Amino acid sequence: MSSPGRTDIHDRRHIELLVDTFYGQVREDPMLGPIFNGVIGDRWPEHLEKMYRFWSTVLLNEGSYTGAPLRPHLPLPIGGPHFARWLQLFHGTVDRLYEGPVAELARRNATRMATMFQERITLHRTRPQSFIQ
Ligand code: HEM
Ligand code: HEM
Repeated sequence: MSSPGRTDIHDRRHIELLVDTFYGQVREDPMLGPIFNGVIGDRWPEHLEKMYRFWSTVLLNEGSYTGAPLRPHLPLPIGGPHFARWLQLFHGTVDRLYEGPVAELARRNATRMATMFQERITLHRTRPQSFIQ
């Protein structure tokens, strides 16, 4: 499905629009909003800055994000339905704004990360001793 006017993700401005649009929806979402707002509170500006760096590193090789992306998710009350909703919003945002190989990479990397997080969260719940805290 192509529509005129959609470009691929090429630069920082594209990443910032993607992240702002996506988290704008997340914050309003009945399922995800309270979880994010509960943890992040008044730290949204720094969370968004971090997510610009994360996606610019994954998609544009910016190298500005170094961190441990999994760790803050381990204690969250989230499972399959939450990740399904997260991915639905993320993929929907990517598709509405962009089109091309980097947009596809964004979609695929999000799916991989969500799958990996779910597996590790499950493992953490059943065998917490297998993680260094
Ligand atoms: C099976 C899948 C994956 C595993 C097991 C994994 C594991 C890890 C681990 C152990 C770290 C280092 C965390 C630390 O320093 O404590 C890391 C960092 C990172 N991961 Fe992954 N990851 C996976 C998939 C992904 C995917 C799909 C993406 C992209 C969306 C991704 C993006 C990153 C980034 C950007 C960092 C930070 C790199 C840095 O610190 O320089 N990872 N990952
Ligand atoms: C339902 C699913 C998810 C929820 C509820 C969630 C929630 C959160 C929250 C609350 C934080 C902020 C933690 C803090 O600053 O105290 C965070 C950080 C983060 N999230 Fe998620 N997240 C979800 C899925 C994902 C997915 C699928 C990805 C990757 C594609 C992702 C990537 C990240 C990264 C990179 C950070 C920053 C970690 C750091 O501090 O370096 N999240 N998430």
